[in-house]
Amino acid sequence: MQPLKIAVLGSGKGSNFRAILNAAMAGQLKIQPVLAISDHPEAGLLSLAENLGVATQVVSEPKFRTRLSEEVETGLVEDIRASGAELIVLAGWMRLVKSPMLEAFPRRIINIHPSLLPAFPGLEAWKQALAAGVEKTGCTVHFVDGGMDTGEIISQCEVSILPGDTAETLHARIQDAEHRLFPEVISRFARREIL
Ligand code: GRF
Repeated sequence: MQPLKIAVLGSGKGSNFRAILNAAMAGQLKIQPVLAISDHPEAGLLSLAENLGVATQVVSEPKFRTRLSEEVETGLVEDIRASGAELIVLAGWMRLVKSPMLEAFPRRIINIHPSLLPAFPGLEAWKQALAAGVEKTGCTVHFVDGGMDTGEIISQCEVSILPGDTAETLHARIQDAEHRLFPEVISRFARREIL
């Protein structure tokens, strides 16, 4: 089976992309990253990709902070198509995805979110869980639709909230769980169990 070609979009430090690459290097999933895209020139995933010789792209969006304008997103669709990516992985991408991408890649865009959706969509979900006083939270990998963290759930991993947990300690344990869950789900795509 050929390695699954993936495009990765992220705005932050890139720890999930690193975990995906580490799992691939450990032989746990067969992927070929073909394009890394960010809206922040300093995003961690860009340097990870550059070190591997993977094409990178920085998206500039002067008009909006929480989504891309239709023209910019349409351009991104063309670039992703040209890359040959079969799966689009949102790993800390902080903008809503709209119709140009959703229509071009139906059931081909997945996201990781730091809560047990549908609980606590949106920003800083670990802080929302702490404030709500729940006993457990976790992370979710889901298909992306036009809403905020509302797409069909593919897989989840629970994380207990411990006495004395702070936002930092809880977030760190959720990220550890993300780094296990995301490669595991992508490996199912790579084995063509889901695609
Ligand atoms: C993750 O916690 C993910 O759940 C959220 O954004 C964060 C990205 O972290 N969507 P990183 O850039 O992969 O380290």
